[in-house]
Amino acid sequence: MKRIAVLFSGEGGNLQNLIETVHGNTCHIVCALTDNPNANGIIKAKHAGIDVRVLEHRHFKTREAFDQHLVAILQSYCIDLCVMAGFMRIVTPVFTSQLKAINIHPSLLPRFKGAHALERSFYSADPLAGATVHHVTEELDGGAVILQQAFQRDTDESFQSFHKKIRAIEYEILPKAIIGLLNDLK
Ligand code: GAR
Repeated sequence: MKRIAVLFSGEGGNLQNLIETVHGNTCHIVCALTDNPNANGIIKAKHAGIDVRVLEHRHFKTREAFDQHLVAILQSYCIDLCVMAGFMRIVTPVFTSQLKAINIHPSLLPRFKGAHALERSFYSADPLAGATVHHVTEELDGGAVILQQAFQRDTDESFQSFHKKIRAIEYEILPKAIIGLLNDLK
């Protein structure tokens, strides 16, 4: 069975969804790695019996040094694919030249690259919103799109309801993208 690592920084909602959708059938999540020792996702991964690694950037002088360590940990798990699911770090060529990785982003890229994409998308006048799975390159949220799903916005929608719709799309397209990519590797 194919082996993946999931990287996260906070709640771990996407991580939990991957545990429930792909873990143990399409692939094994062999490592859940976070840069945040207080991330709630840690509990979710441990509960599922997944190896958790914490790598704090404050222990490294440069982004490249952090990335080299990150790559070494991930390579030690012999992964086929690295999945960034709410991992709030920009990676350097040290990372992208050595690992195949994908990322989930809460907007219709190339709209709203970078931080606070959900809020920026909500407060925009765009008639459509959605989420994107893309390849990770050194350009922030700039890699080729793998899957994208949109919905027509309601003009009087609350942020909470908007967020819920984005979530539902993320929970659908990230597992789908992983299954597709891993199948192509066979
Ligand atoms: C998700 O909405 C994900 O798309 C977003 O962070 C959230 C993490 O939630 N990622 C980014 O904004 C990356 N630039 P989670 O920890 O509950 O999965």
